[in-house]
Amino acid sequence: MAKPKLMIIVGSVREGRVGLPIAEWVNQAALADGRFDIDFADLKEIALPLMDEPNHPRMQQYTQPHTIEWAKRVAAADAFIFVFPEYNHSYSPAIKNALDYLGHEWDRKPVSFVNWGGNSGGTRAQAALRPVVTSLGMVMTHGLIEINFAGAQLEEGVFSPNEQQSTVLSLVLDELQQLDGALSPLRG
Ligand SMILES: Cc1cc2nc3c(=O)[nH]c(=O)nc-3n(C[C@H](O)[C@H](O)[C@H](O)COP(=O)(O)O)c2cc1C
Repeated sequence: MAKPKLMIIVGSVREGRVGLPIAEWVNQAALADGRFDIDFADLKEIALPLMDEPNHPRMQQYTQPHTIEWAKRVAAADAFIFVFPEYNHSYSPAIKNALDYLGHEWDRKPVSFVNWGGNSGGTRAQAALRPVVTSLGMVMTHGLIEINFAGAQLEEGVFSPNEQQSTVLSLVLDELQQLDGALSPLRG
């Protein structure tokens, strides 16, 4: 039987971002876990412009090649981990822009968040994105990861998780698998 596909979305795009090493940790841990096929989606590489479609995404009348490509990729995913920082007490613009492009492709799929900040653990970024994903029909995991002073866990560009972060990530993968099992029959 095919494995469910987990899309890991890297939601910070600036030069020198901490987000990439954190997302690489999530990617390596999910690969080692082995329960999912992984699609690693780095929004810096994908480089979506600011949402530029003329129609409401609900209609799925996409006109731009970048939207058609993004829609195919997201539609193929069964579960998501969004890895994004706290900027000005909220989510990063890259993650919101990537969400706004599509509608149905997110619906009835589970999602978890990995967040961090300069001195916060990204709590406010999580709280701000929660109603956004809910409005898209996504179901959030109970377990979410917050990383305080994320930069302190970086050495030569590699993020080293502590034991608690690794344990929570493993529980998050359990939840994503369970929620995908419950939600996949509901997808149109
Ligand atoms: C525009 C901007 C706004 C920020 N706002 C916050 C904030 O509200 N709370 C916080 O704890 N850290 C804040 N920071 C610090 C970032 O969370 C920190 O720089 C982190 O490394 C950003 O993730 P990135 O490196 O992946 O972009 C902000 C950083 C930037 C660039």
